[in-house]
Order: sequence, then C-alpha cells, then structure tokens
Amino acid sequence: MKMISRRDFLKASAVVGTTAALTACGGGDSSSAASTASSAASTATSAASAAAGSANIGVCIYQFADNFMTLYRADLEEYLTELGYGVTIMDGKNDQNTQTEQINTFLQQGVDVLIINPVQTTSAQTIVDTISPSGIPIVFINREPDKAVLDSYPDKCCYVGADARQSGTYQGELILATDTEGDINGDGVITYIMCKGDPENIDAQYRTEYSIKALEDAGKTVNCLYEYLDNWDQTLAQQDVANALAQFGDQIEVVFCNNDAMALGALQSIEQAGRTVGTDIYLVGVDALAEAVQAVVDGRMTGTVLNDDVGQATAATEATKMYVEGEAVEQYYWVDYVKVTSENAADYL
Ligand code: BGC
Repeated sequence: MKMISRRDFLKASAVVGTTAALTACGGGDSSSAASTASSAASTATSAASAAAGSANIGVCIYQFADNFMTLYRADLEEYLTELGYGVTIMDGKNDQNTQTEQINTFLQQGVDVLIINPVQTTSAQTIVDTISPSGIPIVFINREPDKAVLDSYPDKCCYVGADARQSGTYQGELILATDTEGDINGDGVITYIMCKGDPENIDAQYRTEYSIKALEDAGKTVNCLYEYLDNWDQTLAQQDVANALAQFGDQIEVVFCNNDAMALGALQSIEQAGRTVGTDIYLVGVDALAEAVQAVVDGRMTGTVLNDDVGQATAATEATKMYVEGEAVEQYYWVDYVKVTSENAADYL
C-alpha cells in the first residue's frame, strides 16, 4: 500500500485550504472568459471571473532553470489558478535587466498584484521604486530584501519566505547526529568543504554561517578547507567537489551544500571518487528535492532539509488574495524548514 507522503499531504491540505478560502470569499462565477498573456513563457489561464475575486496576477521568477523554484512556481500556478485568478509567470533567466523589462510589461498590462522572486536582492529597492507609483502591491518571495525596502512601500509590500538560519542550523545538527558527530577520522576536528549558492543571496549566506555555527555551538572544532561558489548549480558543484576530492582526498569529512541541486552534483563526484557517504564522508543539502530525498532513503546522502515550497506558495497565494480583496497584509510570512533524515525521509518522497 502506498502511503501518502508528507509533501503530498501538504499539497492536498494546501489545495483544500485555497478551495476553502475561495468558498469563504463567495466562490465566484466561472463563466466569463479567461484572461490570456500570449508572450508568457508559462501562462496559466483560468476561467477568471469578472465577479468578486477575479484578478490578474503577474509572477516574476528569477530563473526557471532552478530545481527548487520549479517546484515553487508550479505550486503558485496551481493555487492562484484554483482561486480563479489569471496567472502569468515570467522567466527572468537570471538576468535583472530581463526581469525589469518583464515587470514594466506587467505594469503596462495593469495586473492586480505582482509576485516577485528577484534576480538580484540588491535590486529590490529599484523594483519597488518602479512599481510603487502604480500602487500595485508586491509579494516578494524566496529572496529576502532588506526590511527598509519593504518599509519604503508601506501596506503594499510583503515578503514570504523561510528563515535560512534555521536550515543552516538543521544541516549542522544532521552532521552532529551521525555516529562520529562529523569527525570521521577521530582527530578532534570536523574538516569540511562548503558548496555555496549565489553569494548575494541571504539563504546562501545564512546556510553557510549557521551550519558551522551549530557545530561550534556544540563545542566542536572545525576546519574549512575551501568554500566553493557554485551558484546553486549542480554541474558547478560536481566539478568543484571532484577537484576538491582530488586535492584534499580523505581529509574531507563533510560536504555541506547550500542546496540539494549542488548536493546531487557533489554526490556524483563523491561516488566517482570511490568514497561512501555515511562511511567515509558525510553530505548534506537543503530543499528536499525528490532525488535528494531518495538518496537519503538509500543512505547515499546524510540528510537534507525540507524547504517547504508548498507552505511558501500557499502563504504567497494567501497574501496575494488579501491584497486583491483589500485586506490588511503583514510585512512578513515565515514558513518553517524541516529536517529530513534516514528515519523520516520516506515520508517526503
Ligand atoms: C533554495 C535553492 C534555490 C534558491 C533560489 C533557495 O531557497 O534552497 O535551491 O536555488 O532558493 O533563490
């Protein structure tokens, strides 16, 4: 008998949640024409009603070619469409100029709310300054802007995300929970390499810092051999970890990766180098991508941390709905991370 996984369960609850919310706001007549946006790389058109509840939402994703944001945008499309909204999702192609043009197009089209996953967090203020004259509310997602940016557009701008410090701490705790507490060779030092995401992204910064802080807070001595800038990318991490294993060999006891895409790249190189996770090396990531969770189930990854795309997309949808309906919206919505270990991994497949 196939058990329903926690991710499926979260998904089912989220759908029930949005349906309930839709019912609560009076449902709406789905007979009128759907809105369309033909130039969109991904366009979800629904039977958007002209009656209460109908709205057009523009979504800007920093890059479609990002495993985690692919899950997230599929959830967003589903939940927003479920509410009867017209949804247009654009691929920023990891280029801020491209994304800025897409935002300008949305402004010309006159969307009701913009959901923005900025390419560059440092451009968030410029993004707000571009949008604020129109009065269109903004839900920032996944890449946290400075609070001053949110403050500069009061009551019209919020952030939905997860506290990346928690994910870093959980990664450190996953290592502390191993048989050797991360010190495979028993020399009293945890020797590691770090594969980092985009360096200007707060998730990358906090995961790098807090994973190690968790070890130090537990009284461990650590030795960082190298921090690689792998930009959340599987192929870059695979190459860098292959080089690291060739250069440092058995000295490497732990490979920390700021996300699972990089951990999966690291895993390929670890296995190619004849090393065995759980025996002579440890490997942790973040996101709980299906392939990484399977690797945890199979004992090929030490653990990962669920970055709850379902919870975040649900919260972003709720915030959008509140803006559409003119309700008061908080400045921040936080969604918890969850540790995924060999004991609970099967629940997240
Ligand atoms: C995820 C990464 C993703 C990044 C995009 C992070 O929260 O863990 O996998 O690449 O967001 O901004």
